[in-house]
Amino acid sequence: MEYPFQITSLEQYKEQYQKSVDEPESFWGDIAENFYWRKKWDKVLEWNFKEPKVEWFKGGKLNITENCIDRHLETMGEKPAIIWEPNNPDERTRVVTYTRLHKRVCQFAQVLLNNGVKKGDRVCIYMGMVPELAYAVLGCARIGAIHSVIFGGFSAQSIADRLEDAKAEFIVTCDGAYRGGKDIPLKSIIDDALIGNKTVKKVIVYTRTRTPVSMIKGRDVWWEDEMDYALSQIEKNNVVTMPATEMDAEDPLFILYTSGSTGKPKGVVHTCGGYMVWTTYTFVNVFQYKPGDVHFCTADIGWITGHSYIVYGPLAAGGTSVMFEGVPTWPDAGRFWDIVDKYKVNVLYTATTAIRSLMSYGLDPLQGKDMSSLKVLGTVGEPINEEAWHWYDQHIGKKKCPIVDTWWQTETGGILISNLAGITPAKPSWATLPMPGVQPVLVDERGKEVTEPDEHGLLKGNLCIKAPWPGIIRTTYGDHERCRTNYFATYENLYFTGDGALKDKDGNFRITGRVDDVLNVSGHRIGTAEIENAINMHASVVESAVVGFPHSIKGQGVYAFVITEKKHPEDDLAKKDILETVSRIIGPIAKPDKIQFVNGLPKTRSGKIMRRILRKIAEGETENLGDTSTLLDPSIVDEIKQNKV
Ligand code: WTA
Repeated sequence: MEYPFQITSLEQYKEQYQKSVDEPESFWGDIAENFYWRKKWDKVLEWNFKEPKVEWFKGGKLNITENCIDRHLETMGEKPAIIWEPNNPDERTRVVTYTRLHKRVCQFAQVLLNNGVKKGDRVCIYMGMVPELAYAVLGCARIGAIHSVIFGGFSAQSIADRLEDAKAEFIVTCDGAYRGGKDIPLKSIIDDALIGNKTVKKVIVYTRTRTPVSMIKGRDVWWEDEMDYALSQIEKNNVVTMPATEMDAEDPLFILYTSGSTGKPKGVVHTCGGYMVWTTYTFVNVFQYKPGDVHFCTADIGWITGHSYIVYGPLAAGGTSVMFEGVPTWPDAGRFWDIVDKYKVNVLYTATTAIRSLMSYGLDPLQGKDMSSLKVLGTVGEPINEEAWHWYDQHIGKKKCPIVDTWWQTETGGILISNLAGITPAKPSWATLPMPGVQPVLVDERGKEVTEPDEHGLLKGNLCIKAPWPGIIRTTYGDHERCRTNYFATYENLYFTGDGALKDKDGNFRITGRVDDVLNVSGHRIGTAEIENAINMHASVVESAVVGFPHSIKGQGVYAFVITEKKHPEDDLAKKDILETVSRIIGPIAKPDKIQFVNGLPKTRSGKIMRRILRKIAEGETENLGDTSTLLDPSIVDEIKQNKV
């Protein structure tokens, strides 16, 4: 498959960028021509950020799985679509060709129909990283059911909240999942999540770990039985036929929950047409993917990175995508490099936190690894510090692989700011230039565009985007107003990212981190309010305040200041109880790294917690805490400083 929309020089990037800004409709209309539409769109773009309303390729009819699978069958049927690397390196690899993927996705789509799933129904997927997870996602897309994948590290309570918010009627899960040395009992967590649930009718269970599970009559069914039966329905004389449901470009494709600065996670909704165009376009351009390349994105499909750059982007481009079940440090910290050599990986796309973590093991795990197949390296999830960037460049890329620092969000569907590998210049720790179609702007607190450079010649402000690109969030599920207030109301006529950034005179952007109350822990977004709510659920907790602090591997760690009923429960048990509570309510990823019991929190006279002060203390600052004169009780600050953990 050739990519007529692949940018091949810096000049061409500049020219394409300009065209995308001057004539967005003709620009994106031309790119969309490279996909398979059952019917072409009526209008390329309609939008206003007031409501907000964004419609790309409206009236166009398609099914994304015909683009990700069917259209490749004739010419590339025997080419690997997915190469699966199991958790245990001694277990057999699975190579899923496009023909095989087609069969499995059709089978699973039929399974969904047999179980009563209809277009528009929400199907929650809670599985480990097995090929069946990709079949489940694409099977939903094939019949127009809306998938909502939940990362395997979330607790029963988190799942229950998401099931309720999405009013999901169906679940696809596994008996268990292997992650490094651990087995995670997924079905049993689902069973807990379903206590009290009133919407879920069917649970489809794939066997992976042979962990004993309870199967409830009438509700729970085995994947394997259902798949066998479905095959007998759709396969005749070795030919599989299972028509894909025709979707409008603006019909929802999936919901993915993500944390914000307030309350519960939001269900970010992406639609079929724009998301497909955006993930494919960015995949081909940022990574400079060439037909036949092996692409290894190490993310989990429970996060947006896995949706866009393991499943949809690579498959729509007819690529080969490596899917890895395990973790980077098991059985040892050389695992990624073994996988690179085993499958001759050409593009490696991983999280900044993974690079820092692997760096901490030194160079031993790299001994004897060849890695000469690598052509392009990528990072995502959080700002990359220069030290990690150079380590990645020198020891993994051997100074011959361009590194793309890709900045984007769940809400943006795909990469918005990044260099294009080997085409536009890289700058260590800078995400650099916007993709065509993306118009970033830095604004001050009042929403005024920043135009005065600081003493280093840099513009500094809150990062917003002026106009829609095809992959932008359409709504938050079931609550459009929440979408408006979260992203489009802070500054008029702008999409607000929640990130701060710097811009240099050449137009490069450097992301400095969140400016709202959202933490980025190992590349995972968690709202401080969410963690506080969880801590406050513990019976002996009166109040808590959570802030981030710099963490050498995770990027940010979680620091919790906690007031308990009993004065100073210094014992470890109290801390462990709180950790257990957070694990139960949200999941292990949200567990505080540090807990400090305090007698009070620094509050203003109106009762607002001065997080700025707590953040400084957590960062280890003792002197310049800023203005404390508005505090109700300034002495509390000294006490907190003295007892810092
Ligand atoms: C942060 C992940 C700096 C940022 C794709 C953003 C980054 C949040 C980068 C979104 C990067 C992501 N440099 N920061 N290259 N990539 N971020 O929704 O704060 O899980 O707002 O999407 O991660 O996280 P999310």
